[in-house]
Amino acid sequence: MLGGKSILLGISGGIAAYKSAELVRALRAEGCGVQAVMTRAATRFITPLTLASLTGKKVITDLFSDASDEDTLHSAIAHIDAAQQSDLLLVAPATADILAKFALGLADDFLSTAHLAFEGPLVLAPAMNTVMWDHPATRYNLMALRARGARIVEPSVGELACGTVGAGRLADPELIVESVREALRCSADLQGECVLITAGPTREALDPVRYISNRSSGRMGFALADAAARRGARVIVVAGPVSLPTPNGCQRVDVEDAQQMHDAVMDRLPEATIIVMAAAVADYRPVSAASRKLKKRDGLPLVELEETPDILKAVARRKGNRLLIGFAAETDDLESNARRKLESKGCDWVVANPVGGATGFESDVNQGLLLSATGEAVRVEPMKKARMAARILDVTARARTRTAA
Ligand code: C5P
Repeated sequence: MLGGKSILLGISGGIAAYKSAELVRALRAEGCGVQAVMTRAATRFITPLTLASLTGKKVITDLFSDASDEDTLHSAIAHIDAAQQSDLLLVAPATADILAKFALGLADDFLSTAHLAFEGPLVLAPAMNTVMWDHPATRYNLMALRARGARIVEPSVGELACGTVGAGRLADPELIVESVREALRCSADLQGECVLITAGPTREALDPVRYISNRSSGRMGFALADAAARRGARVIVVAGPVSLPTPNGCQRVDVEDAQQMHDAVMDRLPEATIIVMAAAVADYRPVSAASRKLKKRDGLPLVELEETPDILKAVARRKGNRLLIGFAAETDDLESNARRKLESKGCDWVVANPVGGATGFESDVNQGLLLSATGEAVRVEPMKKARMAARILDVTARARTRTAA
């Protein structure tokens, strides 16, 4: 499946560096070309000769390599060449140090410089001591990298070289290859699309500690983001406050209230070709939020509400030939309410879900009815949100391909 792809494999300096030899064999067995780049520290754990023998290419170990050497990427801008000639940048093992460098955008050796010059998918397989893995600095760097779309192949739990037992062992080569395969999205029907997704609830502040919100967990939107990324789309998730990890390969923009969600969506709209509004945006917000915590002793507060911006309607006005999919959570008259929403909001499809039962909000399962502006209706039986996400993309994106053809 990976035949013909070229992987730029960064090896940073941890004890797990020796395992990169096995990883190279696994990648070569899949048919991809591998150009190894080792940090200075990595060369202390495994020799460049081992990796050169396995990759069949001279290993890059230095930002300033010997320009007389013909069989390597040896120009003064070799990091740019390496970046342009590769389909994917994989770093395995990725030490805490290289994660920090990537997160900050430092460029003081070949690998970190090539990272900045690379525009394709990035897969990181970290390996380190458990305490380093759990350190807030490492967590923070991982969060930043994930938010930029990096895929992280989580280390496994086991006995570490330092003698402790915990998370930090380099993931098995098969898992890393699997992630590479996913990142390269070999069966990518949404390749070339940019999917902008809203997810989760919004919070409309009453005072510095209280807010108006709803029961949305964000799971449906995140499942859609994950499914779209797996199918090759570039994905931007604009997320209200949810406690969900960013799906691999997706960019995430965190927002709190409807106005921020509106602004973030409008900001990213020009890039999008498919827009999925799965967020449960609060319909009303307090006209003004108190600057100090409302006190009980001051008596019942009188809260005046106003409408929040309708993001879906605003997008519909500027949609052009983008595919626009809205959601309709309904407690009654599912079909007629959803059809009304489809028309009033101006979208191409509405995904109508019954809420209030065992499916929908706060649940792992969802069901619904997909209605299109051209009169199609597709029922989706109760199923896990991940499967439902795939169904929604099947139906709506297939219809789009048909229209385009
Ligand atoms: O009007 P209602 O909230 O039921 O519409 C649901 C659809 O509209 C969802 O797709 C939701 O994301 C979107 N919506 C929005 N902005 C709002 C309210 C809803 O984008 N202020």
